Amino acid sequence: MTTTSDNLAAASGTFQLGGDLPVVRLGYGTMQLPGEGVWGPPKDHDEAIRVLRRAVEIGITFFDTADSYGPETAEQLLKEALHPYADDVVIATKAGLTRQGPGVWTPVGNPAYLRQQCELSLRRLGLERIDLFQLHRIDGAVPLEDQVGELAKLRDEGKIRHIGLSEVDVDQLKAAQQVAPIVSVQNLYNLADRSAEELLDHCDAEGIGFIPWFPLATGALSKEDGPLADAAREHDATPSQLALAWLLRRSPVVLPIPGTSSVDHLESNTAAAGIELTDEEFDRLSAAGG
Ligand SMILES: NC(=O)c1ccc[n+]([C@@H]2O[C@H](COP(=O)([O-])OP(=O)(O)OC[C@H]3O[C@@H](n4cnc5c(N)ncnc54)[C@H](OP(=O)(O)O)[C@@H]3O)[C@@H](O)[C@H]2O)c1
Repeated sequence: MTTTSDNLAAASGTFQLGGDLPVVRLGYGTMQLPGEGVWGPPKDHDEAIRVLRRAVEIGITFFDTADSYGPETAEQLLKEALHPYADDVVIATKAGLTRQGPGVWTPVGNPAYLRQQCELSLRRLGLERIDLFQLHRIDGAVPLEDQVGELAKLRDEGKIRHIGLSEVDVDQLKAAQQVAPIVSVQNLYNLADRSAEELLDHCDAEGIGFIPWFPLATGALSKEDGPLADAAREHDATPSQLALAWLLRRSPVVLPIPGTSSVDHLESNTAAAGIELTDEEFDRLSAAGG
């Protein structure tokens, strides 16, 4: 059971996905758990299980995963480590990217395939309903309304609760919203890469969850000699913690999901929830990381 002093994530506050599904804002992304190139089993299986269990202990409730991480590996690890899930655990998975080898990802948005992957994720995760099912990529060869339409059918059938998108622009989000309610988007965004700024502003205005992937720029923002090193020393924090505190401060709809394969990094990253940045510190970091 989580003790109050262990509950590091809680200070990040909560966000209601779709207005009815609360998540603690600072979550965890499972992409670092499979082997090199997000392919195959973890380097250290027991540490992967420890990371997931420790995440729950320190108050994380929001877990991002995908059928394609491994593939299958990350979802299997989630079930092994956390099933039966605590009531407040929310697993967000994705479908729509296929794998042909380490580091290779190919979009497939055929509706029959998306349905198959939903069924397989339900089985692998040991769930009767997936809380957040995200279209990992829009497949340019398939009409958007067919891809989101299939997710809407899965929602109507009770197999998924909410629909999210990944790597979209504002126009694609609006087009998808014509087909079904969209509660979240997941795009590349961090202090050093703010190309999704317009989408984030749109989500902020509409109360749509914005899940920034690569929140640590895959480790570049974590470096002791990186762009956040001086500010981190002044703040008595690590560069990763400042990168995450900056994201949390950027907008209340931002739900960072830093990935790590180590319990030490997990604990350190999650402690970022307790760092409060003043307006001036936020502006200085914005300038330092840009
Ligand atoms: N929707 C999409 O298309 C998409 C794409 C990519 C990722 N994602 C999601 O976003 C999540 C986050 O992205 P990510 O995991 O790729 O990148 P990230 O969170 O930006 O960075 C992870 C990298 O930083 C290192 N790291 C983490 N904490 C650290 C710390 N405190 N000190 C030093 N190094 C640290 C990790 O290594 P260690 O393992 O050694 O800690 C790993 O190499 C993923 O897990 C996945 O769930 C989604």
